[in-house]
Amino acid sequence: MDYSKLVNGGLAQLKPYQAGKPIEEVQRELGLSEVIKLASNENPFGMSPKAIAAAQAAIVNCHYYPDANGYYLKQALHERFGYDPASLTLGDGSNELINLIFQCFANPQVNVVMPELSFIVYPMEATVAAATLRTVPLKDYCVDTDALLQAIDENTRLVVLANPSNPAGTAIDYATLKAFVKQVPEQTLVVIDEAYNEYQESAFVDTAKWIAECPNLLVCRTFSKAYGLAGLRIGYMVSNLQIAALVNTLRAPFNVNAAAQAAAIAALQDTEHLAHVVKVNNAERKRYAEFCKAHQLFMIPSAANFVAVDFKRDSLPIYQYLLERGVIVRPVKGYGLDTILRISIGTPEQNDKLFALLGQYLQENPR
Ligand SMILES: Cc1ncc(COP(=O)(O)O)c(C=O)c1O
Repeated sequence: MDYSKLVNGGLAQLKPYQAGKPIEEVQRELGLSEVIKLASNENPFGMSPKAIAAAQAAIVNCHYYPDANGYYLKQALHERFGYDPASLTLGDGSNELINLIFQCFANPQVNVVMPELSFIVYPMEATVAAATLRTVPLKDYCVDTDALLQAIDENTRLVVLANPSNPAGTAIDYATLKAFVKQVPEQTLVVIDEAYNEYQESAFVDTAKWIAECPNLLVCRTFSKAYGLAGLRIGYMVSNLQIAALVNTLRAPFNVNAAAQAAAIAALQDTEHLAHVVKVNNAERKRYAEFCKAHQLFMIPSAANFVAVDFKRDSLPIYQYLLERGVIVRPVKGYGLDTILRISIGTPEQNDKLFALLGQYLQENPR
C-alpha cells in the first residue's frame, strides 16, 4: 500500500522543513565541547530574567491545562499596544498561526501570492492546501509591492509577506507597505509576518492599527526572536474580530502552554531587556556590514537579527569549515541561494569568533 496516495492536498509533494542543526548534535557528531549556534535566528542574550522566573513559577502548576484563551497575556497585549483582546489569536509560535491561516483560507480553488524567497513555511503551507502558488520576483532582494499587487486577481485568497523578510532580512518602509495594504481588494487577506519587527532601525509603526481601515489585514508576531522565547513556542496574531473568531475556533484549545504564557507577559513588561537586545544586535549588525565590506563580500542589507552573506562561490565548504570549528550557520540552498550563508547575529564574543574563522578561511582559500 502506498500511503502517500491517501494524504490530503499536496502533502505528498512536500519536502520536510530543514531546521538549523542543534548544538548537541554537532557536539556529539564532531566531538566538540564548545559549539555556537548562529543558525536559527535565536536570541543569543536569552530571555529576560523576569520571563525565566515567571516560566519557572508557572511550571509548578503544569498539572493543570493552561488558560485556553490566554486571558492575562491578551490583557498584557492590550495594555502594551491597545489591542482589543477579542482581536488576538495566540499560537504555539507564530508558525502555528501561519498554519492556521492557511488551514482557514487556502484551498485548491484559490491562489496565494507571496514574494520570491519567502520564509519556506509559506510555500509549504500553500502546497499542503493544494492552492495555486504565485511567487513574485524581488527587486534587489526587497519585496516589490507593485509586482505583488499585479499578481493579485479575483481568485487570490491570501497574500503573505514577512517584514523584515527571511532569509534576505530586508524591510519595506512603512509608507510603501501601508499604501500596498490599502490597495489590496477586501476579499484578499494580507498577512504581514513581523517575526523580526523589533530589530528594525526605523521607529516602531504599529501595522496592526491599520486593521481599523483595512479589515483584510492580519499581523503575526512572535516572542521567539527579540523576546528570546523560541523554545517556549508562543506568538500572536492581530486581526479583525471576525477573522480572530474563525481562527480561534480552529485552534486547538490548549495550544499555548502555561509557562510560555507567563513568560510572554513578563517579557512584554521587561522593556529594558528588549531594548538592550535590540541595541546590541543592531550595533553588531553594523560590524557584520563592516566585516563584509573589508573582505569584499556582499551582505544583503538586513533589518533583522541575521545577515545573508554572498560569498560568490559555493557556500557549503565554508559552512562545513565553520561547523568543524564549532560555529553552526545556515546554508540556504533550499531557497536556491547556493553561494549565500545566513548567519544569525550572536553576542559580540560569538561574532568575534565567527569573524576570526571566516577571515582565516578567506585567507586560506583566496579566489
Ligand atoms: C519570517 C518568520 N516567520 C515566522 C517564523 C516562526 O517563528 P516562531 O514559530 O518561532 O514564532 C520564523 C522563524 O524563523 C520566521 O523567520
